[in-house]
Amino acid sequence: MNHFTLRHGELHCEDVALATLAATLGTPLYVYSKAAIVEAFRAFDRAFAGVPHLVCFAMKANDHLAILRLLAREGAGFDVVSGGELWKALRAGADARKIVFSGVGKSDAELEAALDAGILMINVESPQELDAVERVAARRGGRAPVSLRVNPDVDPKTHPYIATGLKKSKFGIDFGEALVQYARARAMPHLDVVGIDCHIGSQLTEVTPFVDALARVRELAGRLVAEGFGLRYLDFGGGLGITYKDEVPPTPAEYAAAVQAGLRGLDCTLVLEPGRAVVGNAGVLVTKVLYRKDTAARRFVVVDGAMNDLVRPALYGSYQAIQPVRPRGGSTIVADVVGPVCESGDFLAKDRELEEVGSGDLLAVMSAGAYGYVMASNYNARPRPAAVLIDGSRHHIVRERETLEDLVRGERIPPELR
Ligand code: LLP
Repeated sequence: MNHFTLRHGELHCEDVALATLAATLGTPLYVYSKAAIVEAFRAFDRAFAGVPHLVCFAMKANDHLAILRLLAREGAGFDVVSGGELWKALRAGADARKIVFSGVGKSDAELEAALDAGILMINVESPQELDAVERVAARRGGRAPVSLRVNPDVDPKTHPYIATGLKKSKFGIDFGEALVQYARARAMPHLDVVGIDCHIGSQLTEVTPFVDALARVRELAGRLVAEGFGLRYLDFGGGLGITYKDEVPPTPAEYAAAVQAGLRGLDCTLVLEPGRAVVGNAGVLVTKVLYRKDTAARRFVVVDGAMNDLVRPALYGSYQAIQPVRPRGGSTIVADVVGPVCESGDFLAKDRELEEVGSGDLLAVMSAGAYGYVMASNYNARPRPAAVLIDGSRHHIVRERETLEDLVRGERIPPELR
């Protein structure tokens, strides 16, 4: 069900008019639908009901404490990629035994924190990291549960910045080297080899790359089992895409069917790390039109939201739909929707057909629930926006708008300059 709908000519999130929120809380403003998050999570989780599985939400997509708490209550585990994410997940009430830790550059301190917390497993991404986990585990006493993230060399057919399972990418252990590294891991006294892991990329809109990657991983898993490895987990990462414009990604059910077919006969708990598929279409960024600026060469709609608030269009050239909060249904224009940041790369949309808009009008940048707020910055000394979670007719501020004081927190002026 879509939880961002027009009612009485106004865009609502659940039962709350976006214009009312903007009037009281200001703009730019992130707005999330609780029902949309819960529905997407449950649909994903339910799709795998036929096999032992654990859905570990990739919190890099959205890490508001309130949303993590909501998902933890739904039974989610978490995929973390830094000590900071681990800390936030635990702070939100996550069960450590449902946390997996991925990433190519984990520090000793981060590994130690993960072992202290008692997480499910560390997804090791290189031979040297294997040595590091062994060293840290030996130093603190006890054993570390590890799985090896292998790189299946499959083209996910997505934006190059978010393709991770190609041989040339920095992620995972070379497929051809995996058996050797598994043997090394087994010989290390402080490691428990519990699984195998891969993640090939993000915003995948076809099932084939998943199927191809899984076939390779499944074959390797079979060989490992034959060699006596007690593989308990197969972590297949995240990556299921969403509709931003007109993409038709596999449904969770189609995705789950393909994954389960590829795993047949393997006696493992399946771990999944969806991020975008859970929260992507559950959030929008509401922004206000400041000016219209029509030059000889181009039309611009200058809004108060910018690349520092939502960087996806600037960074990946990605498409985010833009809807008027109070559509008038009149004539349309083709314009660039740009923010106040001093870079020509600062745009939310290029050459976009929009309804005629003027100063003070509100626009909703759709599909901003994933990789939106988490990638926001203070560039151009812009306080980061507020974020609200809608629950029926109620709203809860889950992140306050930053203040000017927040912009200088932690800054110091040397004594001789005082
Ligand atoms: N697991 C691992 C190891 C990952 O690296 C990622 C995403 C995920 C899970 C979750 O992938 P998802 O289900 O959300 O596709 N900032 C980019 C996306 C970067 C994704 C990085 N890794 C964007 O805005 O499109």
